[in-house]
Amino acid sequence: MELVKPSTVHVPSYVAALERAWLPDHLDKESTQYELDWIRRDPIEFLRLTDNPEGQGPDLRLPDGSRGPRLPSITRWMWDGEFCGRIQLRWQHGTTELPPSCLGHIGYAVVPWKRRRGFASLALSLILDDAIAVGLSYVDLTTNQDNLVSQRVIEKTRGQLIERFKKPDAFGGAPSYRFRIHLSDAVSPLG
Ligand SMILES: CC(C)(COP(=O)(O)OP(=O)(O)OC[C@H]1O[C@@H](n2cnc3c(N)ncnc32)[C@H](O)[C@@H]1OP(=O)(O)O)[C@@H](O)C(=O)NCCC(=O)NCCS
Repeated sequence: MELVKPSTVHVPSYVAALERAWLPDHLDKESTQYELDWIRRDPIEFLRLTDNPEGQGPDLRLPDGSRGPRLPSITRWMWDGEFCGRIQLRWQHGTTELPPSCLGHIGYAVVPWKRRRGFASLALSLILDDAIAVGLSYVDLTTNQDNLVSQRVIEKTRGQLIERFKKPDAFGGAPSYRFRIHLSDAVSPLG
């Protein structure tokens, strides 16, 4: 598995995954349809914004339907000859802080039919180089307290639990954990 910068050759496989009713971490059903429509209408613009260090594009739709600002971000797709999953890094310039509308610097999801192959763990360790490159000294990630698999992914990458908290209502209010990975502590993807 490698991380690829999404391009036109990768789009049909991504669309096939969305059409298979796979809901990535950042999309509910309505947002998935919105993204599919966007790709069909303007695939070049969609792809351009996968490298989006200025946070251009429409505001983000939060899970309760409210809107939040689109932060600078890069999105990479996990690829093993076909689309396996997605990982995104988002940040604000000149600070490690995030606004309340963004729960963590990194979000990821693997399609159900490619799970348990180490892809999320590898993708997380690989994208930390990008986090260093944009000037971050650490990244925060949040998971629901019942998401044991995601917690394992983060712990394998030397994430440390720093806070128990309740997600804001806009995100459903679930009991959650905040983890931090200090980038000087990050593990190499080669072990
Ligand atoms: C969380 C998620 C990304 C993990 O993806 P993945 O590629 O299957 O994860 P990995 O293969 O890297 O597995 C990581 C660890 O979890 C373990 N694991 C994975 N699935 C598991 C399961 N169903 N039950 C128990 N352990 C599991 C693996 O064994 C591995 O631990 P190990 O190295 O000690 O054996 C994937 O389940 C997913 O997309 N879930 C829905 C979206 C989501 O929760 N995103 C994260 C939001 S915070």
